[in-house]
Amino acid sequence: MDTTDETRLSETLAAIDAAGDTDTLETQRVAALGKAGWVSALLKTLGRMSPEERQVAGPRIQAMRAAIADAIEAKKTALEDAAMEAQLAAERLDLTLPARARPKGSIHPVSQVMDELAEIFADMGFSVASGPEIEDDWHNFTALNMPESHPARAMHDTFYFPDQGPVVAGSPTRMLLRTHTSPVQIRSMVERGAPLRIIAPGRVYRSDSDATHTPMFHQIEGLVIDEGIHLGHLKWTLETFLKAFFEREDIVLRLRPSYFPFTEPSVEVDVGWQDVSGRRVLGGDGDAPGHGWMELLGSGMVNRRVLEFAGLDADRWSGFAFGVGVDRLAMLKYGMDDLRAFFDGDVRWLEHYGFDPLDVPTLSAGTGAPA
Ligand code: DAH
Repeated sequence: MDTTDETRLSETLAAIDAAGDTDTLETQRVAALGKAGWVSALLKTLGRMSPEERQVAGPRIQAMRAAIADAIEAKKTALEDAAMEAQLAAERLDLTLPARARPKGSIHPVSQVMDELAEIFADMGFSVASGPEIEDDWHNFTALNMPESHPARAMHDTFYFPDQGPVVAGSPTRMLLRTHTSPVQIRSMVERGAPLRIIAPGRVYRSDSDATHTPMFHQIEGLVIDEGIHLGHLKWTLETFLKAFFEREDIVLRLRPSYFPFTEPSVEVDVGWQDVSGRRVLGGDGDAPGHGWMELLGSGMVNRRVLEFAGLDADRWSGFAFGVGVDRLAMLKYGMDDLRAFFDGDVRWLEHYGFDPLDVPTLSAGTGAPA
């Protein structure tokens, strides 16, 4: 190796160092290390040398080759890093900037109404309880004072699970899809005892389907247990709730005597309403044209047998309970007439009836304004 090779080496290393892109690097690699490259040509000269010469020239040429290969590799990495840096800088997103577009999607009216209800009842000191949708016969029926032979069971169009071995009447092993949220009353009393003030929103299931019934729908259960609770507490609570929910003071309630196995006495509650041509939209004279009463919810004083099933001292504690269809409340408040559309997942329906995700229901701002 002579000084010409040394000069070529330093020229090559300088060119590699100065390369601004990988194409230039590749040109340098081919010129030096390629088949016809000058380092490759030097390597070929080794064959013609004497062993002594080769001893000296061999390592030198290999060292040149390695120096060039290492320089190319290092430069390549540097170029790639620089390219990545440039890309990152160009694609930089400032996540602290305010959004330019509103979020897509909307809150389903049922979710909205459930949030509204939780807000209203939280303000009255209720906490939210829940129970399983796959429920056992005891919690869904027996403990609610509906023994195996009770005629009220027939009204529930229950989805039972297939037999899981021998069925004992009212046995906790007989499973079903809960037909109402009332079993959460039992679970709450058993788990938490008294006093108690809960609401329990959730899905319920019945084998029934038409414009106002779907096999799955939503209810919200309310339960208050304390000493000295009477029907007056129930009426005040429902009135306060419905005024807050419909966001108007002129709500008129009608309490009708009724029957539920788990309450005694039982009352069904209607709200007054009027069609669009009338002045008062809610509240009214049931006999005038265009006026009527809308059946809204079932309620009553908790039957002492239910308190006993749940392990409470029925001489000390009393309470009231109510159950409302959430879908029905949503239909009434937001003017939808076909329940089946609730669960079709039609984007056009959701865009029309859905709510702005940023419009979280609060009492101070009103519990819900359409999007
Ligand atoms: N569970 C009843 C149903 O689904 C509704 C109901 C009525 C709930 C009266 C109650 C109540 O808590 O007191 O039809």
